[in-house]
Amino acid sequence: MDFQRLPDNRPIRIVVIGAGNRAHKYLEYARRHPERLQPVAIVESNDLRRNETADRFNVAESSRYSDYNDFFARPVTADAVLIATPENIHFDPCMKALDAGYHVLLEKPIAQNYEECQAIARRARERGVLVGICHVLRYHPYFAKMKEIVASGDLGKIISINHVSAVGIDRATHCYVRGLWRRAEMTNPMLLAKCCHDIDFLLWITGSPCHKISSFGSLRWFRAANAPEGSAKRCIDCLVEKECPYSALDLYCNRRDWISNFDVPQGHTLDEVLAKELREGPYGRCVYHCDNNVVDHQVVAMELADETTISLSMDIFTQEDCRRTHIRMTHGEIFGDEKSLHVRRFRNGTEEICNFEKLAGSPFHAGADLQLVEDFVDALTRSDHPFLTTVEESIESHRICFEAERSRLSGTTIWLQY
Ligand SMILES: NC(=O)c1ccc[n+]([C@@H]2O[C@H](COP(=O)([O-])OP(=O)(O)OC[C@H]3O[C@@H](n4cnc5c(N)ncnc54)[C@H](O)[C@@H]3O)[C@@H](O)[C@H]2O)c1
Repeated sequence: MDFQRLPDNRPIRIVVIGAGNRAHKYLEYARRHPERLQPVAIVESNDLRRNETADRFNVAESSRYSDYNDFFARPVTADAVLIATPENIHFDPCMKALDAGYHVLLEKPIAQNYEECQAIARRARERGVLVGICHVLRYHPYFAKMKEIVASGDLGKIISINHVSAVGIDRATHCYVRGLWRRAEMTNPMLLAKCCHDIDFLLWITGSPCHKISSFGSLRWFRAANAPEGSAKRCIDCLVEKECPYSALDLYCNRRDWISNFDVPQGHTLDEVLAKELREGPYGRCVYHCDNNVVDHQVVAMELADETTISLSMDIFTQEDCRRTHIRMTHGEIFGDEKSLHVRRFRNGTEEICNFEKLAGSPFHAGADLQLVEDFVDALTRSDHPFLTTVEESIESHRICFEAERSRLSGTTIWLQY
């Protein structure tokens, strides 16, 4: 899209709305390249996070806000806004940022329904500003390699794809049973929250619009009826905690996993914070006694305009937390599990293996988070540099997720019109 490029002899001045886990990943780029990106205001409702983030980047006291409405009422001079708040707080600050004339880097999912996604894209066009969506898989070396192999045409045309998003049981209980993403109306349906990346990737490599979708899935396991005898409302009171694979005590206290989002106030220790959380907080609850309503398994079948078929399975009952993709093409096949990519050719039966073992699970999504920010900064300053994941590009994946959810809830196949 066409918009007025910014000068590249000074850093891009960015306002951060929501200084949590994701914002910190993207801000690492500003830490490494202060000459290219500079946070100039921090909007964060949590005092500790707001001040820690602002201190780290020497943001003035007067440019620290707890409420984004205060920021828009008395803004600072800036070029762009990073929105990394929970997804029920994407649409409103994004529209306000667009109305104020800022470029926006917006965390996925774009918004909570397709109409809002379209409204953001429309407003960005009207205001002549760039809205980038953080579909980081497009920048991940492993996924980019798959795209490159397919696009080379070496293996012919794609006929079908099986793609598995193995969420991993620990991520699932932390995020989708006890945590922020447990209720669809609070955030989004789980397919959108977790797999808009996957659908975006699948549409990106196939390059054909989706014509038909069917989806099935439910919340089958993590509900009160399945609570074992002896269980309690909280893991600390549970008689069967020692055998439970979903124990919060085991996850946070013994294994020290998924603890980075627990804030430790000055003068306190992580153990004190965890003990309080287990006693009173949402993360200490029994998985069978939470107020979660998102699915715990879902499949999506898609037929594209060029007759390619895709099956996607979102599975949370997995030890591994990874994505596996099998692409069947006319002259060969590609199979990958994030650790390696196997490229097989039918004619002579050869197999090439690309090894990604070292990258799998490495920080910042194997550097993809930083690449995305660099791409955004480049796109804002250079007219010959198109941004890879604009809102226009990203919106289709969201439409598919919303329609898949409609199919799941209505029990029908959805035919998409273009
Ligand atoms: N691109 C990816 O790979 C990826 C991965 C995980 C999460 N996400 C998305 O990133 C977004 C943020 O997720 P996160 O994991 O960083 O969550 P988080 O909870 O760590 O961060 C969100 C921050 O927003 C703050 N906040 C909440 N309401 C606010 C308000 N009204 N004004 C200002 N600040 C407010 C919270 O205090 C918190 O610090 C979500 O949309 C999530 O789906 C993207």
